[in-house]
Amino acid sequence: MIKLDLSNVLTEVIGKKGLNFYEIEQNAKKAITLLNEKKYSELDFLNLPYQDLKKVKEIGERAREYEHFIILGIGGSALGPRVILESLSPFHNLTKKPKVFIYDNVDPTTLKHIIEIIDLKRTLINVISKSGSTSETLASFLILWRMIRDKKLKVNEHFVFTTDPEKGNLKRLAEEYEIPALEIPKNVVGRYSVLSPVGLLLAEAIGIKSESILEGAKEVSDRAFKENLPENPMAFLASCLYLMDTLKERKIVVFLPYSDRLKTLSEWFCQLWAESLGKEGKGTTPYPSLGTTDQHSQLQLWMEGPEDKVILFMAVEQHNFQEEIPEEFHDIEGLRFLGGHTLEELINTEQLATEMALWMNKKPNMKIIIPKINPFIIGQIFQFLQVTTTMAGLLYGVNPFNQPGVELGKRLTYGAMGKRGFETEGEEVKNYLKKQKFYI
Ligand code: PA5
Repeated sequence: MIKLDLSNVLTEVIGKKGLNFYEIEQNAKKAITLLNEKKYSELDFLNLPYQDLKKVKEIGERAREYEHFIILGIGGSALGPRVILESLSPFHNLTKKPKVFIYDNVDPTTLKHIIEIIDLKRTLINVISKSGSTSETLASFLILWRMIRDKKLKVNEHFVFTTDPEKGNLKRLAEEYEIPALEIPKNVVGRYSVLSPVGLLLAEAIGIKSESILEGAKEVSDRAFKENLPENPMAFLASCLYLMDTLKERKIVVFLPYSDRLKTLSEWFCQLWAESLGKEGKGTTPYPSLGTTDQHSQLQLWMEGPEDKVILFMAVEQHNFQEEIPEEFHDIEGLRFLGGHTLEELINTEQLATEMALWMNKKPNMKIIIPKINPFIIGQIFQFLQVTTTMAGLLYGVNPFNQPGVELGKRLTYGAMGKRGFETEGEEVKNYLKKQKFYI
């Protein structure tokens, strides 16, 4: 099990900027009680570790025969797969097949480059959209659909949909064109869906056993409702981050893993945290970071800038590469002292030194400790952070599973792009543009 070290947010460790342990415990207990009320059906993400993997494995096996595997999706339908790819198969495209492209934006140039690289005849395209109505995903789908058709290729050999089991455009097209479709369970929402076929098909496609990811997640699912606090570190983390905001006005959470392989985990976590909690004037701003890189970019601000942050480290105990740094240049101290150590020692020492420096400056920080990076641990991390975020939402009293704030922008895009039923929004866009011109 991954571990949580919360010493450096306690009053007895960092003085008055810290939190009282009793208060942390009380709020952790409250978070567990609220979770046990099972107010939201969307808590179904906790059951994903128990899903039947037969279909994902079948399609995954087929996917491994292709040269290229493209994911079209955005937000929760893209960030999770990206973490799986980059944490479990780094530099994948340079050494392995199928080569994977995750197209999660509508940047025309990116798609142009992907199209130039791939051979459509040997490409499987996984369109991921829970709603089946996301403009960005559907636009790129339409382009690739037309290309597949123009080449007289069979659509059901080149597309796989991952979508809602009951409704939406993709569901409809899957039935009409007999396109293989994987289901995102009805009550699982986008940013909590990585442990569904959203992430697992990619895992299988790149040769990662999806059951290992789920095994790790299962351990966390099983602990989420436990009232015995030491068994439920997610409740502690949710409680600390919640109290750091509400009692200490620390409105920024810096997520800081010490591994390149976890860089995209930072992005995934930030989406999860921001979209789940930022509502009704509540929530804190997550900042996606990376150690040691950001020690040379952000650390100055964290040490001496405004007192508005909590740093959440993620330390990796073992990094899989024990090569020693050679002992050379004995007469140059700046080089000599590194000799005989390993890069693992150095990255872990830098993590420790940064944590200590923050502690010495009485800056609140916490640490998630993982033994190594493998499918089992990645499954644990996903579920650990999903449960933590849900519990934080329950403490704030907001619904962690909706995102009402993104609807308006979507409607204005529909209006501007001429979608029927959004004529008023279309007019509003025109008026806005007229008004703006005056000041430019
Ligand atoms: O977390 C969410 O629900 C969102 O970020 C969605 O994942 C994102 O908007 C994409 O939605 P969909 O999967 O319906 O295309």
